[in-house]
Amino acid sequence: MDTATLSYLERYDGEPDATKLKLVRQFMEEDPGSFFGELRKNRPVLVTPECTLVALFDDVIEMLSMPKVFTVALYEPKMANGYLMSHDDDALHYREKSIMQGFLNREDLPDVRAMVGKICEGLLADAGGEIDAVDGFCRLAPATIVRDYFGLIGMHRKDLMEWSYWAQVDTFYNQPFDIVTPEERERIIKSHDESGEKLGKYIAALVLTRSVWGKFEFLLKPFRKLRRLLTGQKGGLQDDIVARMLRTKFPAEMDFDIKRLGTNAGGLLIGTIETTAQATVQTLQFLLQRPELLQQAKNAATLEDPAEFDGIVWEALRFVPISPYMFRQTSTEYTIAKGTDRETVIPGATNVLALTQSAMFDPKAFPDPEDFRPGRNWYHYFTFGYGAHECLGKYVGMVMIPEIVRQIVLRPGLKAKGEIEYEGHMPKSYQLNWTV
Ligand code: HEM
Repeated sequence: MDTATLSYLERYDGEPDATKLKLVRQFMEEDPGSFFGELRKNRPVLVTPECTLVALFDDVIEMLSMPKVFTVALYEPKMANGYLMSHDDDALHYREKSIMQGFLNREDLPDVRAMVGKICEGLLADAGGEIDAVDGFCRLAPATIVRDYFGLIGMHRKDLMEWSYWAQVDTFYNQPFDIVTPEERERIIKSHDESGEKLGKYIAALVLTRSVWGKFEFLLKPFRKLRRLLTGQKGGLQDDIVARMLRTKFPAEMDFDIKRLGTNAGGLLIGTIETTAQATVQTLQFLLQRPELLQQAKNAATLEDPAEFDGIVWEALRFVPISPYMFRQTSTEYTIAKGTDRETVIPGATNVLALTQSAMFDPKAFPDPEDFRPGRNWYHYFTFGYGAHECLGKYVGMVMIPEIVRQIVLRPGLKAKGEIEYEGHMPKSYQLNWTV
């Protein structure tokens, strides 16, 4: 039969059960926009033999609002030391997330943006008009923030990049509903295990050396005072997130000891680099492939108020998000969209994909969704997730991502040599050049 004339769902219905998931993944890879459009219109809850896909804005919100029903059980085996992300609405998650939100003081953000700007300027000046934007810029810039703002010092940034990479690949793209050969699965797990071990040793050494150093910091106080007297400069203690964590004493009843501190310091690294790299490189390509939009972005990039430029970036990420979905596993049977004609019973222990990219094209929340329209209602985007597991680094990401993109967009004559090259789901290289 000529499948070209059939709709996605007709092709799906005609496919044997054993290969249905593979076909769905192929549709999602090749043309997510059209496939998701058909799902929203004709089958907003698609039940496949391996997992269930949820395509409408309201249903995605419903799912992500109930962490005890739609759980992150699939994260658990991938995360060392019971990191907060693998907990659903319990004491540890509530406690550790709020402690970390406090350390990541939002008052820092203007300084963080300025820091990102400076880092990017330095990287681009060193590149001399030609760069592999993936490793040389989009990964290196957040890796430098991890070092300079979060305080994960004393390690080569290439190592930080590698550890974040394997954690991301194994956790998010090596799941039962990913099409990966058994050999490749094994290779990913092995690489994640090895890099996780290195990360663990590094964090232990970091915490030890920085806490010992912290104990003797008082010896430097007289010199700081003297410098302040001579120069008028403030010169306080070194301030970064790890320094803040180590300087803070929690009562034993709060269960945030030095081990929990180390686990959370590692989480900052894992969460930051690969996510930021993928978001920034995909946004860059989206702009570079649309000359009119690129010009609009260049104009906005020169304005003092970054709001207009940032709005372009958030809208671009609706079209090219880092992942088209978030995944959950049901803890119990649940009826989604109850009382509507799409009402569906989802059995317990089912893997469910909340198709956040599809939800960001649902006219219910995004009028004329195919139009590129910067300045849409920010609260409807799923770029940093939604609900209890909403991104811890959201506000840092909200200054870091657009600033990284802005700095490179400002380069005169910016051009791409080709398209982003991928390895599996992750960007591998993207060659850019500009006039110096
Ligand atoms: C800036 C540094 C970042 C840090 C430290 C960070 C850290 C985290 C953490 C710890 C969580 C889990 C929160 C929880 O379970 O309660 C999370 C979730 C999430 N992050 Fe980030 N992240 C960062 C940047 C980013 C970026 C740049 C993106 C995307 C562009 C992103 C997208 C997400 C998403 C979509 C989730 C939700 C995952 C889910 O619901 O299963 N993050 N992040």
